[in-house]
Amino acid sequence: MDQLRITGGKRLNGDIAISGAKNAALPILCAGLLTAGDLELSNVPGLHDVKTILKILAQTGLTVQRDGDKVILNGSKIDTLEAPYELVKTMRASILVLGPLLARFGEAKVSLPGGCAIGSRPVDQHIMGLRALGADITIEGGYIYARCARLKGARIVTDMITVTGTENLLMAATLAEGETILENAAREPEVTDLANLLVKMGAKIEGIGTDRLVIQGVPALHGAQHAVISDRIEAATFLCAVAATGGEIQLLNTRTDIMDVALDKLREVGLQLTVGHNTIRARMDGRPKPVTFRTTEYPGFPTDMQAQFMAVNTIADGPSRVTETIFENRFMHVQEMNRLGANIQTEGNNAFIKGVDRLIGAPVMATDLRASASLVIAGMAAEGITIIDRIYHLDRGYDRMEVKLSAVGADVVRISDKD
Ligand code: EPU
Repeated sequence: MDQLRITGGKRLNGDIAISGAKNAALPILCAGLLTAGDLELSNVPGLHDVKTILKILAQTGLTVQRDGDKVILNGSKIDTLEAPYELVKTMRASILVLGPLLARFGEAKVSLPGGCAIGSRPVDQHIMGLRALGADITIEGGYIYARCARLKGARIVTDMITVTGTENLLMAATLAEGETILENAAREPEVTDLANLLVKMGAKIEGIGTDRLVIQGVPALHGAQHAVISDRIEAATFLCAVAATGGEIQLLNTRTDIMDVALDKLREVGLQLTVGHNTIRARMDGRPKPVTFRTTEYPGFPTDMQAQFMAVNTIADGPSRVTETIFENRFMHVQEMNRLGANIQTEGNNAFIKGVDRLIGAPVMATDLRASASLVIAGMAAEGITIIDRIYHLDRGYDRMEVKLSAVGADVVRISDKD
């Protein structure tokens, strides 16, 4: 298994180009199942999770052509309406094939995603919503078996706001007969990006960007071209990195309009920001100030940024509190940060952080994607050498992170187990 070796204490300086958003690319690639036409996508990030979803899509019979950040999908020869356990178990977002397969072909067999390090993450809302659209769903032997004649529009109110749940139901509703109303819909920019693509494919959707999506089903969707939106979480992760190390970086290819809360919090940390249309210049001098926050759904503070901001808080000049409200077990980075000399105590879904003068490098273990990113930030801020084990978590959701960081002056080296 690959590791990262980080020699801390280097200031960052230079430009970083932000990649397409993982959490937009995954549902958008699944939308290729909804049409027999060509879906021509660009700005698709080079991530392990993208590879996994393309494998799942390819085994349905969907044709996949990939060249750098460009992917062309064609769904005219789909003949296997199934997503097997071997692939689904490695990535929960695989559940996103369920809605499209069922809506277009009237049948799907998708493995139930298993447990997940950050929380139990059930998919009951996806299933409840598809049943409301008329699907007959049974669960047997770890698989979801779904069938329907043609889905029929319905009003669906999910018990909680769910990002992939909204995306699955939205995709299914585009091909249902009549009107579907999704209440309590997730408003994340990645949901909006998917909805914008679906409209280009011929879907009729109103309320895009709000918590009430109204969809008039159409008999078929056609091909389209689309560029995946920029990854706001990747961008904010690099901004946390410079907040922790000091220096000056410029982010290119960003979407500054969808990062308000993160940017406000970074200003509170002490980062001097110059925000352009799709660039952000960030300068940090001196020690970060502590920030207290609570994760919520968009447009609130993203749970996917909680760990990275906590890394900055560990070396801030004062105490802070971080409250995680989306996932029940998303503090696994705490013990690892404490191994670097941080002073963090947790109590339920609260973490209390006392900023320390310095972190000191140590071997640590990555436990999930965003936890890994937070350890990279902590390692870059620490004195000496930090080795991060199980870095495959990072590769799932960050496009060549160590290459981008090295280009701006960080000392982050991948130690490949093939070496
Ligand atoms: N939930 C249920 N039942 C459901 C669906 C969700 O109880 O049927 C609960 C979850 O257990 C969780 C909460 O609702 O407590 C919200 O979960 P949500 O469904 O919104 O999460 P998700 O769709 O599985 C996406 C992102 C996550 C991100 C969350 C929250 C993708 C592929 N994944 O997950 O991204 O943290 O929304 O914003 O879009 C990451 O990128 O590191 C990541 C984990």
